[in-house]
Amino acid sequence: MKENAVARIGILTVSDRASRGEYEDRGGPAVHDYLDEVLTSPWEADSRIVPDEHDPIKQALIEMADAGCCLVVTTGGTGPAPRDITPEVTETVCEKLLPGFGEQMRTVSLRYVPTAILSRQLAGIRNSTLFINLPGSPKAIAECLDAVFAAIPYCVDLIGGPCLETDPKRVASYRPHD
Ligand code: MTE
Repeated sequence: MKENAVARIGILTVSDRASRGEYEDRGGPAVHDYLDEVLTSPWEADSRIVPDEHDPIKQALIEMADAGCCLVVTTGGTGPAPRDITPEVTETVCEKLLPGFGEQMRTVSLRYVPTAILSRQLAGIRNSTLFINLPGSPKAIAECLDAVFAAIPYCVDLIGGPCLETDPKRVASYRPHD
């Protein structure tokens, strides 16, 4: 783990309409607000918007990993509609999958909406980057991140990223050896 480094975090909105400017992106800012609220260690955002298409999603994920993002959070494109392909593309850039993230986010999300089972959201690792898919609904973002955030700082430690600290009043991150 790298002490005191400014953590670079990727926020990728996957949406045809937001990428064309037809509506305001609300998912990306909701992820940004969540991270600002929860993280107490320094971080900077690499925020992008791409359409629901294989090559732009893949290119953004790889560029964010290559740019040193320890965490990349995507929002949108996890459902069953024909153009929803974010999890499939994320899987192609990962060396390892972490199925527990998707399982936990769906389990907790089912307390909020029965349609939580429609999200195929997943998480995985590429080099020193943790990718996490979230649904596109701004409301889903805090619901899903709250379900898994306690484990994210230790995961980032294990893949050689910076030391992420959280506000214990918001999310008590868990490191087994603390
Ligand atoms: N999970 C939570 N926590 N809250 C939600 O409102 N919406 C669901 C599901 N997961 C939702 C959720 C719905 S309605 C859909 S269609 C799927 O996520 C996929 O959303 P996406 O295609 O925008 O990624």
